[in-house]
Amino acid sequence: MRDLRPPEIVWELDKYIVGQHEAKRSVAIALRNRWRRQQVPEHLRDEIAPKNIIMIGPTGVGKTEIARRLAKLANSPFLKIEASRFTEVGYVGRDVESMVRDLTELAVNMVRAEEQETVMVRAREMAEEKALDILLPAARGQQPVEEGEFGSAHGAEERGPSTREKFRQLLREGRLNDRYVDLEVTDRSHPMIEVFTSAGMEEMDVNLREMLSNLMPRRTKRRKVKVPEALEILAQEESQRLIDMDRVVKLAIERIEHSGIIFLDEIDKIASRETTHGPDVSREGVQRDLLPIVEGCTVHTKYGMVKTDHILFIASGAFHMSKPSDLIPELQGRFPIRVELSPLSKDDFVRILTEPENALTTQYRELMATEGIALVFEADSIDELAQIAYEVNARTENIGARRLHTVIEKLLEEISFNASQLAGQGITITRDYVRERLRDIVKDVDLSRYIL
Ligand SMILES: Nc1ncnc2c1ncn2[C@@H]1O[C@H](COP(=O)(O)OP(=O)(O)OP(=O)(O)O)[C@@H](O)[C@H]1O
Ligand SMILES: [Mg+2]
Repeated sequence: MRDLRPPEIVWELDKYIVGQHEAKRSVAIALRNRWRRQQVPEHLRDEIAPKNIIMIGPTGVGKTEIARRLAKLANSPFLKIEASRFTEVGYVGRDVESMVRDLTELAVNMVRAEEQETVMVRAREMAEEKALDILLPAARGQQPVEEGEFGSAHGAEERGPSTREKFRQLLREGRLNDRYVDLEVTDRSHPMIEVFTSAGMEEMDVNLREMLSNLMPRRTKRRKVKVPEALEILAQEESQRLIDMDRVVKLAIERIEHSGIIFLDEIDKIASRETTHGPDVSREGVQRDLLPIVEGCTVHTKYGMVKTDHILFIASGAFHMSKPSDLIPELQGRFPIRVELSPLSKDDFVRILTEPENALTTQYRELMATEGIALVFEADSIDELAQIAYEVNARTENIGARRLHTVIEKLLEEISFNASQLAGQGITITRDYVRERLRDIVKDVDLSRYIL
């Protein structure tokens, strides 16, 4: 794990997220705090409570985005989950431990993908050999004479390495790409097995399902595929064989325990202490269930035990109806870092449209480039777009930067639709064009409710 220092983290986040400086600082501190806590002598480590963070702010201002980018930076397994989805243990629904199981699943996939990448070179080499094994006996039919043993690599070898090397050459040059070969492939599609178990027993469900599908005979079938596809299939199979799953699981669990991040969205929805009426699940109950996980406990997953002591929790919510102080005291104590995100201004919109590495205007420029169109946004067209997005937010509902997506999509609708006819052209978006396309809609509040 890279031990990023807070200023570096903020600097990296700046590449993608406009403004929200306080929030960036706070998540950077939270991340660093976890690292610090891992460094202190063991006897003290347990005394130090985890320093998680609550981000407070209206919708669409970058809360999730900040957390997601942070996780990416730290190469951390990252799970986003709505706190309101959980129910108290014993009730129908998801128990809080399931988030650790989900995170484990995610981390295993993440590590497996990385491992696959590292073994891929070797797997491709092996796939090439296998492909040659398959190709050579087939090639014999087209060559004159020669009788005897068929099929084996050994047989191919006997005809002299030169034939094999010639084929290798052809294969690498792609000159065999139009040939078909017979391939034995394992049928991946599992027969559908649905297992119904009582609530809260997801784990058993998973195990049962796996057990049953292992009981089923593994089916293989022969397929005729073209050489490039065969190479791909063979390489995949070889790479699966080369990956040491025990190692993957071990690494994955280590990674969660050291650097996992869980993003608890809508924490405000469970922040209330008053006892609820009716069939509602007690929110306080959910908070109590959350507590051990946030404080550090061991969760049983199908990959083994996972300790949650050093998982970083980032909670987030709008907190319109409730306040962080409505959380139970113990939980408040585990989320000592609080930060408020500010609503986005028109100027923020201008910057969001242009500055981030994944800026919307860049995205659309690239999308249009695939059609052979050179799309250019004039500066004052961006200004107008931002202004419109801001106005619509103010007049209808403030959905933050998400408004920019709908506005720009509407703006470019015509061009998007006719793109194939416009290929080879340069298109410049001017302020007038923006006005012409959008002003009427903006003026009509009802209309903009539906369209923008
Ligand atoms: N400050 C910002 N800079 C750049 N992009 C932003 C910013 N704020 C929001 N966005 C963009 O707006 C979209 C929504 O942002 P995000 O998912 O972070 O919202 P949120 O604050 O989590 O809202 P919610 O409370 O509804 O979950 C994303 O595509 C994100 O890239
Ligand atoms: Mg969000």
